Amino acid sequence: MNGWAVETKALVKAFGPFVAVDHVSLQIRKGEIFGFLGPNGAGKSTTIRMLCGLLTPTSGQALVKGLDVAVEPEAVRRNIGYMSQKFSLYDDLTVEQNIDFFAGMYGVPRESRPARKQYVLEMANLTERRSAITATLSGGWKQRLALGCAILHDPPILFLDEPTSGVDPIARGAFWDLIREMARTDHTIFVSTHYMDEAENCHRVALMHQGRVIALGAPAELRAGLSTHTLLQLDTSAPLDTMRALENMPGIGDVAVFGCGLHVAVDDRENGMKSIRARLAAEGIEILRLEKILPSLEDVFVALIEAEEKKTA
Ligand SMILES: Nc1ncnc2c1ncn2[C@@H]1O[C@H](COP(=O)(O)OP(=O)(O)O)[C@@H](O)[C@H]1O
Ligand SMILES: [Mg+2]
Repeated sequence: MNGWAVETKALVKAFGPFVAVDHVSLQIRKGEIFGFLGPNGAGKSTTIRMLCGLLTPTSGQALVKGLDVAVEPEAVRRNIGYMSQKFSLYDDLTVEQNIDFFAGMYGVPRESRPARKQYVLEMANLTERRSAITATLSGGWKQRLALGCAILHDPPILFLDEPTSGVDPIARGAFWDLIREMARTDHTIFVSTHYMDEAENCHRVALMHQGRVIALGAPAELRAGLSTHTLLQLDTSAPLDTMRALENMPGIGDVAVFGCGLHVAVDDRENGMKSIRARLAAEGIEILRLEKILPSLEDVFVALIEAEEKKTA
């Protein structure tokens, strides 16, 4: 067995002529929270399904705990928990019935089932709701129940496919607390999300775009990589007109909408600010705020994806 919890080597999945996962190579260590980011259609779910032994790779190799998913899918499945994008709970069963069902499906030995069920109910904070019909639970509760059901057999490696999508921010925060707790107890977490800000919760992230990894590293490393540009926060009375006014100006790079303001990449802070002021004054647009800010991971990802799209355009 090699030392990595999860490893892919030039992993490819093609659907006919369409390449959904394009030579993805990753190495993830035990106890790591590894974030798999990227817009819809980037190839996240397809990669995860190959790693879970649910989809056969077209070429390349995927190893989980050193086991080749194409050769030993059963052994792989005993070592992993998988939470699919749709949670796959039985809506008409109660919380407890769902737990019992998944305990059976994952082959949890009969004698350890009561203790595992207790653990999951407490972990997910669902003890008081054990008799509730699953359909009546909010998104956040369902999400925690789905995580609980995926870890009933106490797998060392977890694959979570967009576990926080459609869940409110408070429940998302609580969910990440659970993930961090699991990582502290040596579980390896491979988690996909299209919420770029959630990358901050991960030890390392890979950014996927059209089936390929276009960036890989710790959040701080990726932020540092963007430091060739200076980033400005620009709030104005007319953000859309502002975007148009700043298009194709020398020294001014990407302009992206963030909340109700804009993030503007400039080559140089002083000159950038000067030309923005002059341009917007000429357009009659009022500046409410203009200052240098540190790039967030979302800024980094937006810049990287835009650079990729320019290359392929
Ligand atoms: N079974 C399939 N047949 C054909 N195309 C597929 C199939 N599954 C996924 N795809 C395509 O592969 C691409 C990647 O999909 P997916 O892995 O689900 O992306 P993500 O999870 O990042 O949103 C998409 O363009 C999707 O339409
Ligand atoms: Mg997906």
